[in-house]
This record gives sequence, structure tokens and C-alpha cells, in this order.
Amino acid sequence: MKVVHTREELAQARSALTGSVGVVLTMGALHEGHEALLRAARARADHLVATIFVNPLQFGPNEDFGRYPRTLEKDLAVCAAAGVDLVFAPSRADIYPDGEPMVRVNPGPLGEILEGASRPGFFHGVLTVVLKLFQLTRPDFSFFGEKDYQQVTLVRRMVRDLDLPVTIVAVPTVREPDGLARSSRNRYLAPAERVAALTLSAALRAGVAAAGRGEDAEAAARAAFDGGTAKLDYLVLTDPDLGPPPAKGPGRLLVAAWVGSTRLIDNVPVELVA
Ligand code: PAF
Repeated sequence: MKVVHTREELAQARSALTGSVGVVLTMGALHEGHEALLRAARARADHLVATIFVNPLQFGPNEDFGRYPRTLEKDLAVCAAAGVDLVFAPSRADIYPDGEPMVRVNPGPLGEILEGASRPGFFHGVLTVVLKLFQLTRPDFSFFGEKDYQQVTLVRRMVRDLDLPVTIVAVPTVREPDGLARSSRNRYLAPAERVAALTLSAALRAGVAAAGRGEDAEAAARAAFDGGTAKLDYLVLTDPDLGPPPAKGPGRLLVAAWVGSTRLIDNVPVELVA
């Protein structure tokens, strides 16, 4: 496995890769969710490239950019074990040589709802760095976790709307045995918060069960959300593209909540029966 830090080194290493290239973009702090992305990429492409970059552009002024976990040595071991060929772990100056970019990707209306409503500018920051990392790594395939469902929806939309030559593959969420969705932010949770956090996935499960009985999935999920120390931000039912929910057919149930000072999100597919 080759590890490069500058865009010049990346360009050289990337041009040596012949055949198809799968890219997994990460902010490091790799967990089993990322390992699933790396496995999916390994199975689909001839070469596997991973990027590790904590993108300052997608953190609000009061968010956790400073304390976001940085575990490069461990992350490189995870990449090596997953069969990654090339890791790009750039510095901030390598990605943003002129400081914060003047030109950014505008995610449009889908970027203003849900996560975008709670975190203004978040998806501008995400899509801008994703586009830049696509330009630098030139993937044939790129793999995103469904845990960040709005993110993968918007990346797909950017690829379609801006004609980017990459195929986006969404990989199902990896969960702890008790249902908690794997997230780099889970490591912030104190033991009691870790227990409180289970209400997100429990609420989603209640919604799915209600939908299966032909009942209101969103109302059932809301009723099952135990507001103990977890503070609900949103819990909504949408169609698979984050539009209004259909009466029948596939939908998506999404939740965000604060557990202490940690903001967690989760979502599941729901089959709605009329
Ligand atoms: O999902 C993430 O870890 C980040 O949002 C991404 C896609 C690597 C962009 O910084």
C-alpha cells in the first residue's frame, strides 16, 4: 500500500493505476462502516484508493472540527488490511492552497432540509470537497455509506446534474449488535449516552414495524423515540429521493438527535403499504 500526502504525489501514483479505480472518501477515524465501503470497493474495482481528510469546510463554527478524532496510524492499518492500494492523506493546504475556496458547489434545495437546516453550509462544504477529491483521484466508482443518506443522495444528484464521470455506489449502514449505527462520533458517547443513543435505531425499527402493519410509520417512530437524555432534532418520512413520502411503495425514515453534546443521525428504508 502506497501512502501519499501531496497532490503531486497523488497525480503520479494515480497515473500508474491501470484498470478501474474505486475510491472511498473518508475523514479517517475508520470503523466497520468504512470497512464495508472498502470491501464493496475492493470487490468492484481493479484498484482501491482511500482518502483521509477532515474537511474544515463542512464544520460549522460551533461544531467538532477541533475534537474530531484523528487516528492516522490506526486508519492506515485498517486500509492495509482492507487491501487499499493507495491512500491520499493530504494536509489542509494541499486541498485548499488558496485558503477557503471562493467558488463552491451549491447543493440546491435538497441541501437546505434535514441536516442542511440544522447545519447551514454543511452540504456546500461536503459537495465541494467531494468534487475536488473526485477531480484529484479520478474514480470510476465511489462508495458512500447509507448512514449519511442525505449526503449520498446529494452526491448522486451532483454527479447527475454536473455530468461527473463516476458511478456512485451506496452501501448499507453497519450497526452494532444492539442496533446503534456505526459512526466516528459514537466514540464521544459516555456509557449512559451510549444507552440513550439506542433510541434512534429503536424509533426507526418501530416505524418500519408500523409501516408493515399499514400504520403511520412516522407517527409510530415519533411515539417510540424516548426523549430521556436524547433530544430529537428531526424524524421524518420521505420518498427515497428525500421528497414527500408516497402513500405506497419505498420510503425512507430519517432521524437526527442530540445525545449530550453529540449529534447523531440514522435512517432506514421503509416499505409503505396503502
Ligand atoms: O462522509 C464523510 O466522511 C465526509 O462527509 C466525506 C464524504 C469524506 C467528505 O468530507
